[in-house]
Amino acid sequence: AIEQTLSIIKPNAVAKNAIGAILSRFEAAGLQIVAARMLHMSKEQASAFYGIHQGKPFFDELVAFMTSGPVMVQVLEGEDAVAKNRDIMGATNPANAAPGTIRADFADSFTENAAHGSDAADTAAVEIAFFFPEGVCPRTR
Ligand code: CMP
Repeated sequence: AIEQTLSIIKPNAVAKNAIGAILSRFEAAGLQIVAARMLHMSKEQASAFYGIHQGKPFFDELVAFMTSGPVMVQVLEGEDAVAKNRDIMGATNPANAAPGTIRADFADSFTENAAHGSDAADTAAVEIAFFFPEGVCPRTR
């Protein structure tokens, strides 16, 4: 089915000038960018976005990293967009990311793993509304 998913290019990948390289991978895979926004998240925003991880041992480090510089946030739309984006990103822990994936090529650590992607269609809807409360553009073809 045609789905939407939220994608974040994390501060370490932005700092490496890899925004274009990463967005190209999504487009080459047939995912269309239907919304995009660059911002430097506040501690409050990052804590709210990752609220499900509050209390976990990596939470403080994750929030510190995600607020360390600007991120590029986009909504990707296409056939099986949630799973397709996760395939393109590779495993969350870059030590387990397959060769040729975004995390294999651009991650520096488990926390600095270059990209975030929604893990399911229902969480995608919540994450998209978090960054794009005004909605996204209609898909073009
Ligand atoms: P992300 O997809 O952004 O979702 C939560 C993030 O927490 C994850 O990618 C990792 O960058 C980070 N993280 C750091 N340590 C862990 C861990 N042990 N388990 C899961 N996520 C972790």
